[in-house]
Amino acid sequence: MNVILTQPSATPVIQALRSIGYNARTAISDLIDNSLDAGATKIHLNFEYETGVIKIKDNGSGMDDETLQIAMNIGSKDPRKKRANNELGRFGMGLKTASFSLGKRLSVYTKKDGKYYERCWDLDHVSGCNEWQLFTEIPKEVKVLLGEIEGESGTIVCIDKLDRFMGFGKNKIIQENSYYNKISKINKHLEFVFHSILEKNHVQMLINNMEIYPWNPFLTTNPFTIEGEIQLLKINEHRIKVQYFILPHASHLSEPEYKEAGGYRGWRDHQGLYIYRENRLLYFGDWMGMFPKDAASQLARVRIDLPNEADSDWQVDIKKSGINLPDEAMKRLSAISGIARKTSRDIYYFRNQGSQQKQAFKGSLNTWEQSGLDKGPQFLLNRNHPILSELMKNMDDKNIKLLNLYLKFVQLGSPSNIIDSPKVEEESVQEVSDADKSLIVQFAKTLLEIKAASNPDDLLNALITQPAFDGVNRTTMRKILMEAGIIESY
Ligand SMILES: Nc1ncnc2c1ncn2[C@@H]1O[C@H](COP(=O)(O)OP(=O)(O)O)[C@@H](O)[C@H]1O
Ligand SMILES: [Mg+2]
Repeated sequence: MNVILTQPSATPVIQALRSIGYNARTAISDLIDNSLDAGATKIHLNFEYETGVIKIKDNGSGMDDETLQIAMNIGSKDPRKKRANNELGRFGMGLKTASFSLGKRLSVYTKKDGKYYERCWDLDHVSGCNEWQLFTEIPKEVKVLLGEIEGESGTIVCIDKLDRFMGFGKNKIIQENSYYNKISKINKHLEFVFHSILEKNHVQMLINNMEIYPWNPFLTTNPFTIEGEIQLLKINEHRIKVQYFILPHASHLSEPEYKEAGGYRGWRDHQGLYIYRENRLLYFGDWMGMFPKDAASQLARVRIDLPNEADSDWQVDIKKSGINLPDEAMKRLSAISGIARKTSRDIYYFRNQGSQQKQAFKGSLNTWEQSGLDKGPQFLLNRNHPILSELMKNMDDKNIKLLNLYLKFVQLGSPSNIIDSPKVEEESVQEVSDADKSLIVQFAKTLLEIKAASNPDDLLNALITQPAFDGVNRTTMRKILMEAGIIESY
């Protein structure tokens, strides 16, 4: 059959590309995904009001000339191709569509094996000549704002002509304070969307040189949080992991803790399913049509982990913010969510005052459950064991807290969980996640309270020898205790 090759006219395509429904938060997250896919461990985001540029700089693998050329193409990958296991990208569109949703010019400056490469799309130029002409050099006025890439490799993605991001009505520029308000919203979004990655993978992200700290929606370090059993479901041949968390009743949280746990949308709008793909949050904030949101269910948050092979089952969209529940998942998730919602309701109305955990879920009689996780503890204590529940029913809050802490340590110190714990290097201060820090502090305080340690040395020795904190050296431990005001510098 005869065919005619047609060249889509540039202007309408640009309009379409710019309007696929990103907002600033989702666009920035998508650009961060690229840096993570490139193996970056440090990602700097810079928003500059005066110069009107957004820069995302990473220390990832960088790109050589050919890779960069392909990367700048519109639609550079086949979404049906299998991705590397933990890759966050998918359609080969994100770099362009996310950037163009913020502004009209995209400059990419990248370094690979010590050599720099660059390209630049300017949509004003493209619509002017109505052809997809890609600049092989970044315009001078942008280049001077980029700075250098330290190390052998890395990438700077720079977006300017920010008509969308900084625009405000006709030809008006957003005021400085609303600009920084916008950035603080982006910050809140990122500490949430990437919390699991920030907690796990030793990746550091900074926004205008301020570190982004993970915000964990499940309050896993609070002893009153109820952690449901981890369930592995097979949906269309893909293994997904589901676990529900019931957050503590307000009376068990201090005011700042309560406010913090409410998240940036508030308690009610943070209930429901939290869907993660390769530890990156894709979707949250409701029950996806299975149940309505209601005040009494607001303590229930259900974590679902998808592998990226499952994308097509769940119809993850280009922006990675839209998602569909497959029918098969719906049934099973609504059963699990049903239990979580009921438990939330009971605690919300305080029917189990002083013994939340009594609401035991007809869980199994196993004392240990396999976690099914690749990283972290391989075996988890079954907190829903009926005997444990019965025991807790007759305990007061203080003892429940102590028992919970003890169980946490039993779990962390279980021989099967510590087999491959990392070697400890003395002296240098290590990075410890906020979750671990708060566990250390909590444990230290308890040791002092029950007089299991009476001076800083005893306390440090006791902590160092805990299998649970095997990877943490003395210097780091001391620093954590000092920062928490538990011991003074000496
Ligand atoms: N920060 C980065 N570091 C290294 N390579 C990148 C970076 N951003 C984009 N790329 C390259 O550009 C390609 C296209 O990116 P993108 O348009 O977001 O599509 P996708 O992420 O779906 O592959 C990526 O596959 C990758 O090869
Ligand atoms: Mg991408």
